[in-house]
Amino acid sequence: MDAILSFQNVTKRFPSAQGRGLFTAVEDASFDMFPGEILGLLGESGCGKSTLARMLLKLIPVSEGRILYKNQDVTRMDERAFHPLRREIQMVFQNPFNCLDPRVTIRRLLMEPLKVWNIGDSAADRLKRIEALCDECGLPVASLDKRPGEFSGGQLQRIAIIRALLTEPKLLVADEIVSALDVSVQSQILQLLLDMRRRHGLTILFITHDLAVIERMADRVMVMRHGHIRQVGPCDAILRSPTDDYVTELKRAGFWML
Ligand SMILES: Nc1ncnc2c1ncn2[C@@H]1O[C@H](COP(=O)(O)OP(=O)(O)O)[C@@H](O)[C@H]1O
Ligand SMILES: [Mg+2]
Repeated sequence: MDAILSFQNVTKRFPSAQGRGLFTAVEDASFDMFPGEILGLLGESGCGKSTLARMLLKLIPVSEGRILYKNQDVTRMDERAFHPLRREIQMVFQNPFNCLDPRVTIRRLLMEPLKVWNIGDSAADRLKRIEALCDECGLPVASLDKRPGEFSGGQLQRIAIIRALLTEPKLLVADEIVSALDVSVQSQILQLLLDMRRRHGLTILFITHDLAVIERMADRVMVMRHGHIRQVGPCDAILRSPTDDYVTELKRAGFWML
């Protein structure tokens, strides 16, 4: 099967905080993602997970290497060439408060991507799409008149997921999307994402520092440490018999419930 996404020797360096030299946040990262899979990206805080995701979304440029989406080198595309792909590659972040404007109603927040991408024939058609997805995702349609401040973190994350799915993406990047939520709410959001993967055939890059969450979500897992990808493979194989020292150490320390 052809990869939908390929990282090829991707490196990201930032000017170091001391003001001299460079700090390498991601070094020589190579991996593939295949259509329909959930690839878990696991690693402790600060190891470079979000940096990797931000390069994929072209929120920051790569320093070296290339990123292929459906065999097209996105690292060489300018914003105009990349624009149509933004519809196909959506991202959900850890804190939905930061990306949902508190002043506007949920209806308007959800209308926005449909207008930007010119999806739907009319306002009525757009609203129908929004309501259908709200139904699918368990958000009461009456919520559309409210504003972000009136919701709990879990409901807001639901809204952020609905907003991402409205553009009918192929690839979804979920960066620590349940890390700020209570465990019971976490479980509902994870189940929602699994349901949406099944119904919409999504491919998901699922980023977390939480082993229990990876175990529930990922088909394959990629373990990262200090900017390096240490091990990639099927979730149960890696969790049961890690070959990398760091992964073995984590397992010995009792992080895994297997
Ligand atoms: N814009 C930036 N400028 C300088 N350093 C950065 C920048 N973004 C991230 N970093 C550094 O890169 C490292 C990886 O950060 P990040 O990718 O956010 O880690 P993670 O998401 O795994 O917690 C951290 O040491 C962080 O301080
Ligand atoms: Mg992060």
